[in-house]
Amino acid sequence: TRFPSVPSGFKSKVPPYSKLLEKLGQVKEITNNAPLTLSEKVLYSHLCDPQESIVSSNLEDIRGLQYLKLNPDRVAMQDASAQMALLQFMTTGLSQTAVPASIHCDHLIVGKRGESEDLMSAMSTNKEVFDFLRSCCQKYGIQFWGPGSGIIHQIVLENFSAPGLMMLGTDSHTPNAGGLGAIAIGVGGADAVDALTGTPWELKAPKILGVKLTGHLSGWSSPKDVITKLAGILTVRGGTGYILEYFGEGVSSLSCTGMATICNMGAEIGATTSTFPYQKAHKLYLEATGRSVLAEQADIALNQFGFLRADEGAQYDKVIEINLSELEPHVNGPFTPDLSTPISRFGERTLKEDWPRKISAGLIGSCTNSSYQDMTRAADLVRQASQAGLKPRIPFFVTPGSEQIRATLERDGLIKTFTDNGAVVLANACGPCIGQWDRQDIPKTSKETNSIFSSFNRNFRARNDGNRNTMNFLTSPEIVTAMIYSSNAQFNPITDSIKLDNGKNFKFNPPVGQDLPRAGFEHGRTEFYPAADPQPQPDVKVEVSPDSDRLQILEPFKPWSGKELKTNVLLKVEGKCTTDHISAAGVWLKYKGHLENISYNTLIGAQNKETGEVNKAYDLDGSVYDIPGLMMKWKSQGRPWTVVAEHNYGEGSAREHAALSPRFLGGQIILVKSFARIHETNLKKQGMLPLTFANEQDYEKIGSGDILETLNLVDMVAKKGDNGGELDVKVTKPSGKSFVIKTKHNMSKDQIEFFKEGSAINYIGNVSRN
Ligand code: F3S
Repeated sequence: TRFPSVPSGFKSKVPPYSKLLEKLGQVKEITNNAPLTLSEKVLYSHLCDPQESIVSSNLEDIRGLQYLKLNPDRVAMQDASAQMALLQFMTTGLSQTAVPASIHCDHLIVGKRGESEDLMSAMSTNKEVFDFLRSCCQKYGIQFWGPGSGIIHQIVLENFSAPGLMMLGTDSHTPNAGGLGAIAIGVGGADAVDALTGTPWELKAPKILGVKLTGHLSGWSSPKDVITKLAGILTVRGGTGYILEYFGEGVSSLSCTGMATICNMGAEIGATTSTFPYQKAHKLYLEATGRSVLAEQADIALNQFGFLRADEGAQYDKVIEINLSELEPHVNGPFTPDLSTPISRFGERTLKEDWPRKISAGLIGSCTNSSYQDMTRAADLVRQASQAGLKPRIPFFVTPGSEQIRATLERDGLIKTFTDNGAVVLANACGPCIGQWDRQDIPKTSKETNSIFSSFNRNFRARNDGNRNTMNFLTSPEIVTAMIYSSNAQFNPITDSIKLDNGKNFKFNPPVGQDLPRAGFEHGRTEFYPAADPQPQPDVKVEVSPDSDRLQILEPFKPWSGKELKTNVLLKVEGKCTTDHISAAGVWLKYKGHLENISYNTLIGAQNKETGEVNKAYDLDGSVYDIPGLMMKWKSQGRPWTVVAEHNYGEGSAREHAALSPRFLGGQIILVKSFARIHETNLKKQGMLPLTFANEQDYEKIGSGDILETLNLVDMVAKKGDNGGELDVKVTKPSGKSFVIKTKHNMSKDQIEFFKEGSAINYIGNVSRN
């Protein structure tokens, strides 16, 4: 049977189901029709060439082992990470993006006094960055969602996510879109450029962790509690290398936005992404957000072609079961999202751990929890308290996820309910969730511990208000809202009462809300909306001032000279060296679009093995520098360098600046005991040579100042082996004594081309120009 074609005008909103099913058919042929999980069906239907990636009929030979080359359907970028993604895209010389893309200005708006004032102030302090992003969008045909339009993941859910879609996003909570049945993966800018240029994007086939939901949610329990409980079970590393796939009869008691909350925080347990099978709740959400055509197509894909759900008998690598009927609200934290405590035990634990008994602020909303359902349930509690004559005892902030949500809440009187009861409604943006919170009551430098309750997703130290002593406890919007009326961390709103001025006791009823607005969604201020189908305008000039300290046009890195490399060891790093050590965040975020300025942070967190000092490196004459200082000096002298380090170098995030900056400052080789995979890939993408010791003990034999020369690099490049290989390196000590060590590389054919051309971007640019 042929898949019915999509009515014209809707093509960009509907995944190419017919093409996906054809690819899936090819996979099924190779695997002899083995039952597949939903995640595999969606991923494998996006393979560039099933014959190349599905090397065996046995799925066990694929999961966790094979690299998949994929063609994502679309890309979304937030304003902080989009800058470097676009600067890299510009160097390819292409005139438009290969897949639909969108940019969302949400990370750079500081929350302080409330929506309109904060937005005005952000527009002026970040004007240059917003203008740059807007002009790039016009030039290359990308949708531009300006400041105030909303948070990337909420807008993606409302407009772009779709059952069976595969997308990349330059933000770690991109998996939020899995709430609508997509496979959505958070990546760095260079990976986004792969998709934007139509280059196959590579991913090691994830394993699949099934989460079986039984029973149904009711009362105080909410979708947030599914994921806060799961984080407690799996810990922050438990999802690494897995896609979390939810199934079971309990799924049908969840709203689409609730499923998005659950997928959003899969990032907190390290999962590649999370997803749900197509449900009635999805259809209702699609219809409510103006996408009935997509809902009809998804119905056909499910009912006539068996897509959008797992096959009968599909095998998961692991299964965890959660009974929603027994699920209690959970509170997670402080400082790590997997420290999970059921609300009934939180008071006792507060005492035991000596956490603050008084809560200092409550914050609801963010990309994690700002749906109509979340807000109506929170507003119901506010109304109950208000009718009893209660006012919040602590500051209360509400962050709507998008203009559509905000306008709908306003029309339905919820914004008024919140503000009449003392809440500050912040701009439709990330704000306090990403540290953009100009907190007025407690200074950043306060030495005293304080605790906040939020419905956000992350709670690392200093993430919200820049204060290392603020403990952020993550929970549902319902629990946050109830807590602001007590401010006592030992209060359990399910069982406890609050004493009123008249001496009576007030006890909350379980919150009641609505999944979707009865009167439909309001669009709100139309100036926030981009053109539905923007066309590239090649004549638009992208302005970057040469004097700017926030943006800098990228110069392509030089291609390889064709000769063996000869470098000096600039630094021997001791112990853990994460992407935070290599490219610190915090105040440096401001310079994400300016490679030279951000490079002043390179390896400032690294510890020198030879002296034990942090951020200190020694020149050949023994003079001491901070690490980036010496890199810059050697760059100006034309002296290429190597960094030597230990295990799991570059663990942490996909932060591409951790590879870009060393390359920019003249680094050529990173020689380590082992790499974190994503960072190793990032280094290769930027034209560096990442090597590992064949014999770990050789780490001890090398010191700073030694000369390292490759002996058979020319050969290695000529051979273009696909599975890596060995490389001999000659080490010459300052005394003149020399010896040869064996190292290993694991460059694929394509990655050897990146190295030859100077970077993946140079390679992509050359291929597409020729
Ligand atoms: Fe923004 Fe926080 Fe989400 S930073 S994208 S609201 S995780």
